[in-house]
Amino acid sequence: MKNLLNVLRDDDVDPALMQVIETIIDASKEIAFRVRQGALAGVLGSSQDENIQGETQKHLDIISNQLLKDLLLACAPVAALASEEEDTVVAANPSGKYVVAFDPLDGSSNIDINGQIGTIFSIYRALDSVPHSSELQFNQQGSHQVCAGYVLYGPSTLLAITTGKRTRCFTLDSTQGTFLLTADNIQIAKDTQEFAINMSNSRFWNENMRCYIEDLILGEIGPRQKRYNMRWNAAMVGDVHRVLTRGGIFLYPSDNRNAKQPAKLRLLYEANPMALLIENAGGKARSETQRILDIQPQQLHERVAVILGSVNEVDECLSYLHP
Ligand code: AHG
Ligand code: MN
Ligand code: MN
Repeated sequence: MKNLLNVLRDDDVDPALMQVIETIIDASKEIAFRVRQGALAGVLGSSQDENIQGETQKHLDIISNQLLKDLLLACAPVAALASEEEDTVVAANPSGKYVVAFDPLDGSSNIDINGQIGTIFSIYRALDSVPHSSELQFNQQGSHQVCAGYVLYGPSTLLAITTGKRTRCFTLDSTQGTFLLTADNIQIAKDTQEFAINMSNSRFWNENMRCYIEDLILGEIGPRQKRYNMRWNAAMVGDVHRVLTRGGIFLYPSDNRNAKQPAKLRLLYEANPMALLIENAGGKARSETQRILDIQPQQLHERVAVILGSVNEVDECLSYLHP
């Protein structure tokens, strides 16, 4: 089986970019080790702190962020970092070629229940036109990502990654400490009978979204004329991994719970990297109004509605939203 570095080399990936990817992988292997040790490594429970988005930070959010940050700051090709757990941009090497945005620990509410969690990352070429430490480094459309991926800390530790062409999956061989290629060129099924959404928010959605989900639930006796199943992992990494593996539609729509914050997922380190992985596996990733990868970011922690997965189902959903 080919390992990650051999695959990247065969793909002619820039050696400096390979170095950045390797650094993220090294941090994720350390996170994976601590996740496996669980309570024995003191990774469970919450801290007293909140991040800039007002969310209580779990111990593992802080540990994962620190590991990624420390290793990436020591990685010469990295010019700047953006993280869910950092208020602003973290400046790195002024002559670095790349900038990295990451969600150090996705699915925080699953940490204490031994559920699926992961790390999501997104890499761009650093812009020459703005200082390396400027937030503007990250105001790049998702279509400009040179690499995107996640590491899923589940029963196995998996890496899903794309450097622009295929979306591939690697499995961590913990006896060797290397990621081995286990799925080359993932292709998402075009049709599906499985959806993922947090149904408890339904009364906050707009009418069209409610109508779409109601029709899925009506199954074979409704207009869709087939029975749907529902899954919700409460960790985007887990839900997106299922979609990559067996198709499906994942939705986190906007809602009216909080007027200032109509969507939950973050564009830079959740929606964009997942959108690139999904598109490069033949799927579709939209906000409620446009292709996610075309959105021009305005702020580091901005949020966006997400609808992604099997092409025909995403199109069907959009036809309800824009009749
Ligand atoms: P994070 O743990 O990084 O804050 O992200 C959690 C996100 C995402 O992973 C998941 O899809 C969603 O929040 C879960 O939301 P609910 O709490 O509504 O289930
Ligand atoms: Mn997250
Ligand atoms: Mn997180």
